[in-house]
Amino acid sequence: MKRLLLIVLLLSATTFSAVADKGMWLPSLISSRIKDMKSKGFKLSAEDIYSINKASLKDAVVLFDGGCTGEIVSEKGLLLTNHHCGYDAIQALSTVEHDYLTYGFWAKSHAEELPCPGLKVHILVRMEEVTERLAAGESKEQIIAKAEAEGVGFRASVESMYYGNIAYLFIYREFSDVRLVGTPPSAIGKFGADNDNWIWPRHTGDFSVFRIYANEQNEPAEYSASNKPYKPARHFKVSTKGVKEGDFTMIYGFPGNTQEYITSDAVRYISELSDPTKIALRTERLDIIGRAQATSAKIRLQYAAKHANIANAWKKWQGEVKGINRLGTVAKKLAYEERFRRENPDKAYLLDSLAAAYERNAEGYFNYELYSETIRGIELQRVVNIAFSSASEEAKMAAAELFYKDFVLEVDRQLAVAMLTQYEAKGTFISEELKALFAAHGGAKGYAEWLYDNTKLGSMEGFTVEAAKCDPMTEFVMALQPIMQRIKPYTYRNFSNIPDIERWFRPYVKALMEWDKSRAFFPDANLTLRVAYGKVAGYEYADGEYHLPQTTLEGIMEKDNPEIYDYNIPQSLRDVYATKDYGRWGVTMNGKYTVPVCFIATNHTTGGNSGSPVINGNGELIGINFDRTWLSTMSDIEFDETLCRNIICDIRYVLFVMDKVGGAGWLIDEMGI
Ligand code: ARG
Ligand code: ASP
Repeated sequence: MKRLLLIVLLLSATTFSAVADKGMWLPSLISSRIKDMKSKGFKLSAEDIYSINKASLKDAVVLFDGGCTGEIVSEKGLLLTNHHCGYDAIQALSTVEHDYLTYGFWAKSHAEELPCPGLKVHILVRMEEVTERLAAGESKEQIIAKAEAEGVGFRASVESMYYGNIAYLFIYREFSDVRLVGTPPSAIGKFGADNDNWIWPRHTGDFSVFRIYANEQNEPAEYSASNKPYKPARHFKVSTKGVKEGDFTMIYGFPGNTQEYITSDAVRYISELSDPTKIALRTERLDIIGRAQATSAKIRLQYAAKHANIANAWKKWQGEVKGINRLGTVAKKLAYEERFRRENPDKAYLLDSLAAAYERNAEGYFNYELYSETIRGIELQRVVNIAFSSASEEAKMAAAELFYKDFVLEVDRQLAVAMLTQYEAKGTFISEELKALFAAHGGAKGYAEWLYDNTKLGSMEGFTVEAAKCDPMTEFVMALQPIMQRIKPYTYRNFSNIPDIERWFRPYVKALMEWDKSRAFFPDANLTLRVAYGKVAGYEYADGEYHLPQTTLEGIMEKDNPEIYDYNIPQSLRDVYATKDYGRWGVTMNGKYTVPVCFIATNHTTGGNSGSPVINGNGELIGINFDRTWLSTMSDIEFDETLCRNIICDIRYVLFVMDKVGGAGWLIDEMGI
């Protein structure tokens, strides 16, 4: 079967002539796309992208902190990623005296680079298909153990593609000595913050700079002062020539999750039930947090990252629902399914089985999502987990300390009242224990008020393991346990990945591949390394409103506003603008002498692609991917080339900020520019 699928893959790639800029391709199979890539302006070979025999671009791409991408840009392990990807590390290193988030940070030498405990990057050694090994009876664990024994710092995983039709082994080197080299102030790296998030035109300098360190043998090692900058097999060369509309672009990174092949039932679940429910719940949470933030500068800071996190998906889902409706995805899928039934009468039962499986699991999956969006949003339950964890007394106190630092009891009380009320109204997996607690206090609202009036764990002063033993917050957490048991069978990345559903997807997707020869089948994103290619392109945002593909410093100056936190750019940037002292980074664009800032392209990307290298036809780095436009967010389900655009920070803006704001010319020299 593996062979069959591969043949189908290759065939569909060659017979499909008007190929769209859609898909996230496995680097080891990129030769099947290379003809199309070349016709669009790519000048390198498949071996340049991925090779196990020689150094290739894959050696310069890293999985950053388990959820983002980064790229190596010098022979000394210098690493670029997004500011929002480095955010946690930067925040952890920031103190009131050294507030790197607010003011930025630039090391002047290797000695000044700051270790980031806990931060890891992974570089792919190789990937190989293991479908047959699994079929022959080897277990995933055995395959992984063998692979990890191959080398120092090796980490492996086995991932399924096409709903389990094919399995791949990925072997990485895991580096855990990664140091912060530089970051712009948030007013550049997070310019526009939640307001501008998912929006084009965009002016965010969303980048930060790290360095990978290795031991004497250039192997992964724990942090040590004696470690040396890692010497990569290959690094990206930077191009400062810039881009213009129509230019070829390729993205190399770790997209997290797409659902290209789900049926109309699953799309309806998302656009009619799941997204609207989650959006409404998050609106309530954001309102509560936002109101509290407006009352005090301290709370604004304490809840900044939390608010941004909640708001990110909240805004994305709104765009997603709009996009699904605009494209008529449900109707299109229904028509496609009808055609499949007509032309494959002997396999029509697969669609019936899928529909039945969705129905069987819908209540469970909804309850799992509801639990995640309501109960999990109540923060104080975490101190109970800290109190009863297996950590040492000292570690527990430290964890609690960290928790309370960004915690406001009154905010959490309001969240608990709102979320428990919603959970009581919508949940159907509520445990007898929780029902009893609700009943004893006249319902969820009364219970939540009582809980927060009576817990002693609301602050560090009251927190002890002894106190936790008889606290009502512990009773609450206990009452949640049966619910967690009940939702456990449904806790999968997507509705369609629940095993009882996925087992029908396996033959369905296989049948699609055998039947629909005109479709280019890429495996859904699953946080494994992928290539996506397309071109720089503007788009029609609305009737009569065309959006150009490039923004400049002029737009930053228009948005600059000392009164609004997220638009209050550093004075140094204002000064540079006043003198137009742009040095090598100045260009004339639309009749103005300025600096390029961001651009958009048609690359198929998703969450996880943040920080990904964006390269031109010669394989040179032209930007760092960081977002998509508001009209694109349905691309996880349906990608539409006329509308979907990924947003990229122009490498020339990155260099300009390093140079003129950061005064970090030595890094630019190191990149050989
Ligand atoms: N929307 C981008 C991505 O999904 C950037 C998110 C970071 N920015 C923010 N305001 N939360 O992740
Ligand atoms: N901003 C996303 C990320 O962090 C990228 C996207 O969803 O387009 O990976």
